[in-house]
Amino acid sequence: MLASDAAGIADAARLLRAGGLVALPTETVYGLGCDATDPLAVASLYAAKGRPSFNPLIAHVPDLAAARRVGLFTPAAERLAGRFWPGPLTLVVPALEGATCELARAGLASVAIRVPAHPAAQAVLVAAGRPIAAPSANRSGHVSPTTAAHVLADLDGRIDLILDAGPCAVGVESTILDCTGGAPVLLRPGGLARETIEAALSVPLAIAAPSPETSGPKTGPLAPGMLVSHYAPSVPVRLNVHEIRPGEALLSFAGARPPGSETAALVRDLSPSGDLVEAASRLFALLRELDAAGAQGIAVVPLPRHGLGEAIADRLRRAAAPRPD
Ligand code: TXA
Ligand code: MG
Repeated sequence: MLASDAAGIADAARLLRAGGLVALPTETVYGLGCDATDPLAVASLYAAKGRPSFNPLIAHVPDLAAARRVGLFTPAAERLAGRFWPGPLTLVVPALEGATCELARAGLASVAIRVPAHPAAQAVLVAAGRPIAAPSANRSGHVSPTTAAHVLADLDGRIDLILDAGPCAVGVESTILDCTGGAPVLLRPGGLARETIEAALSVPLAIAAPSPETSGPKTGPLAPGMLVSHYAPSVPVRLNVHEIRPGEALLSFAGARPPGSETAALVRDLSPSGDLVEAASRLFALLRELDAAGAQGIAVVPLPRHGLGEAIADRLRRAAAPRPD
């Protein structure tokens, strides 16, 4: 683990250029970075995460000029990039041949591109001088990391370096828009609220067909990583509860204390003041904390669905979904 000062950033860039695996802070969550042009590095990244190799990775670049060397930007994609980059928005566009390796794209003809706003991520991307593939820096299926300590807990001994820049400000992953066709389609709600994007586009956003298990052979992958059970704590998660069962821990919002709260194993509030931005930034850390409390389950109160509430609801639904194994 290194601080994200000049020496840490130089080390991170050197390791990335040499095919290494480096955990990097971004404003959304910590990412596990590797050289997106190097199939060996990408294969070792999939192995370190225990990630199914059909799940494509986001290519991270420092700016729109670098992004144009990785994918083909339609006028709509240009407009979105110009308005929201750098920031918590990922755009899926047609891939430019040879700019990222096939394994990083899991064989797709499109590529997901993001320009993160975090200064440490920016500095590493500039110094690395090539697109960096970076999924969230957790074991596949686990809760995404919003601190360097979370990364260490999941990936210690499996990666080359963690660059520590403190907790991530946004706390949920980027919003993903498919810009390969006509109108942009929302593939994953995330750190940029749908309303903000719709205001910029002046039209409602189309949403990908509600088939979260999207890697089916008939439809082909939409956002193939959107597996139903994901972000999974080790204990069961119950949503929209109005009563806490004995032995459960409580994830609350805006001070809500449903009946049974007095005897809850642990109570944590996403945002006592009812602020959805604060709630998103604390979501994954509090899920981890409640999971570690030794409770029999985690009960979650109803949450608003507007703004970042959409991404929070999406992550909680996955955390609560039945597990495949
Ligand atoms: O905020 C974020 O986006 C973080 C930080 C580290 O940048 N990254 C992240 O990556 O969340 P990951 O790998 O956990 O999620 C990437 C999602 C997956 O669901 C994947 O299936 C989807 O992006 N994806 C990648 N390439 C795609 C493509 N060509 N078409 C559709 N979906 C794609
Ligand atoms: Mg992830």
